[in-house]
Amino acid sequence: MSSVESIFPLLGLRIVAGPVELRAITDDLIGPLTDLALEGIHGADEMPFTVPWSIEGPKVLPLNAAKYYWGKRTEFSPATWSADMATFWEGNLVGAQGIFSSNFLVTKTAETGSWLGRGFQGRGIGTAMRQVICAFGFDALGAELMVSGAFADNEASRAVSRKVGYEDQGWSRVERLGQPVTMNRFVLAPESFLRFEHDNVVEGLAPFRRSIGLSD
Ligand SMILES: CC(C)(COP(=O)(O)OP(=O)(O)OC[C@H]1O[C@@H](n2cnc3c(N)ncnc32)[C@H](O)[C@@H]1OP(=O)(O)O)[C@@H](O)C(=O)NCCC(=O)NCCS
Repeated sequence: MSSVESIFPLLGLRIVAGPVELRAITDDLIGPLTDLALEGIHGADEMPFTVPWSIEGPKVLPLNAAKYYWGKRTEFSPATWSADMATFWEGNLVGAQGIFSSNFLVTKTAETGSWLGRGFQGRGIGTAMRQVICAFGFDALGAELMVSGAFADNEASRAVSRKVGYEDQGWSRVERLGQPVTMNRFVLAPESFLRFEHDNVVEGLAPFRRSIGLSD
């Protein structure tokens, strides 16, 4: 009998590097992840996300998050794909780390986005999971550039980008909760990449590569 992973390889993707495990967000992880998000990701006066999903309460956030993950699965194609992964640190669910791209076969460029539950921030986990996903992009998918964006007031995300070796790529003015704010852009090339101390072990890579149009 076919498994759902054989039909949709993203769901079988798993990356392990020392204490970090990134696991595709299967349906059984959506509830635990939204519970973690509801416990808090940032202060009430902060908004690190372009789409301010994290300010919703328990009546709205879980269903919105589930619809978001299901919608990304529906839209998944070699032209536009998004691999949202749950982050585990020493076996505990701590947050999420995603990698996504449009026209990857041409641009060889992928972007990342992430969050950690507040109780897990400031311990180096955000740097480690960014290093793990960038290593996955460069080594497993053949990315030539990894990019990231952060609001100018998101010191932690900007610090992670600097620590991992990204260069400033400029800024733009964007809307956030009805206000104009500065979005900083960062770009990382393989030769500048400051890697995590542990190598990645990837499960489900060959079918995932095929699902985004790459050869085995
Ligand atoms: C951004 C985020 C993923 C970073 O993960 P983290 O585990 O907290 O970051 P790290 O512990 O790896 O810290 C990386 C660097 O940032 C610095 N840093 C962390 N929080 C900081 C803060 N509030 N102000 C200034 N620097 C900060 C740390 O000092 C560290 O640098 P150092 O090692 O030179 O001291 C996490 O803070 C988070 O989830 N924030 C809320 C959601 C978010 O911003 N997502 C990203 C959207 S672009």
